[in-house]
Amino acid sequence: MMKVALITGVTGQDGSYLSEFLLEKGYEVYGMIRRSSTEYRERINHLEGNTHFHLKYGDLSDSISLVKIIGECRPDEIYNLAAQSHVGVSFDVPEYTADVVATGVLRVLEAVRICGLAETCRIYQASTSELFGKVEEVPQRETTPFHPYSPYAVAKQYGYWIIKEYREAYNMFCCSGILFNHESERRGETFVTRKITLAAARIAAGLQDKLYLGNLSSLRDWGYAKDYVECMWLILQNEKPEDFVIATGVQHSVREFATLAFHHAGIDLEWQGDGMDEKGIDKATGKVVVEVSPEFYRPTDVVNLWGDPTKAKTELGWNPTKTSFEDLVRIMVEYDTKKVALEKNI
Ligand code: NAP
Ligand code: GDD
Repeated sequence: MMKVALITGVTGQDGSYLSEFLLEKGYEVYGMIRRSSTEYRERINHLEGNTHFHLKYGDLSDSISLVKIIGECRPDEIYNLAAQSHVGVSFDVPEYTADVVATGVLRVLEAVRICGLAETCRIYQASTSELFGKVEEVPQRETTPFHPYSPYAVAKQYGYWIIKEYREAYNMFCCSGILFNHESERRGETFVTRKITLAAARIAAGLQDKLYLGNLSSLRDWGYAKDYVECMWLILQNEKPEDFVIATGVQHSVREFATLAFHHAGIDLEWQGDGMDEKGIDKATGKVVVEVSPEFYRPTDVVNLWGDPTKAKTELGWNPTKTSFEDLVRIMVEYDTKKVALEKNI
């Protein structure tokens, strides 16, 4: 019997990789999509037409649609990846973020119960290292206290606790993956890594003059999204429903990411100045190619994320360093260099 999986957030970075991963494992995959005026589904276009891949309209803010979809496809596994996932944007749209990122999780859990699937359906919740926020321990592990530090993180905190509550109250198999930042060539273009790799490729091709960034000293534990979706699956195959930190255990700054990305694009940077006056200068030409802008600072910023993946390594057998930081940056820059070359020729 083919297992059935439902993925919310199927059009996102992780949803697209997870769909490929589950289809390869022989799953029947249902993805929930939102109606939008553009119908732009770049990351999953290549999967449409696969007879084991199905798309259904729904929204995490709409309980009826969730009950309908879950009732129709009767999944063995649900991967709840849908979210307003941009931390910076959550300061602009805090109420919407809370509705989708917090109450949305509750709606999924209740829909599973209403459809009579509480005993059979396993649920993965996309929790986040942002829960550690203004960190109280370095590196962060499953036992580190939470200190969420944005409207997004506060909403994700509700999602984390309601998953734990339903596990204990109703004996449901629901778990959180506490994932640290994971990136890829499919990353949204306003997250810092992709913003940098695209700009480096454009500047190297003469299509852009400068890149403006916010806090260059912010530290992240960046992994490769394609490696991380395997772990989401492993969490649901585990004997017991438990929460896991998923990270590489290696930390770098935004400045280091930019230095390496520009290097791969053929530009060696030298950094001069401090704080808002810091600049990244092209050593070969002396031109300023990176500047700091207050526009990209957040009212509260999380600056020291560094995960300890020991539990996932030992209990799930997951390899956190399959793709190194250096390889991740190279993969992203190579992809964007090709993308920019195509744009240039059009
Ligand atoms: P993403 O690329 O921004 O994708 C988000 C997905 O959620 C998209 O498919 C989006 O659909 C969908 N969505 C947004 N609002 C929705 C709503 N109201 N109803 C239904 N679908 C909605 O995010 P990602 O990087 O793949 O991350 C996946 C999940 O992991 C998110 O929950 C994120 O918060 C969490 N997370 C991510 C990371 C990371 O580093 N990537 C780390 C920890 C946790 P549209 O295409 O229609 O906008
Ligand atoms: N986006 C952005 N743009 N961030 C910048 C910029 C900029 O121009 N300049 C500096 N930064 C800093 C941010 O202030 C933050 O400290 C860091 O770079 C990373 O920002 P993002 O790439 O936007 O990611 P994030 O860490 O806030 O959130 C992502 O990771 C979380 C897991 O830790 C998202 O994928 C979340 O959904 C996810 O939960």
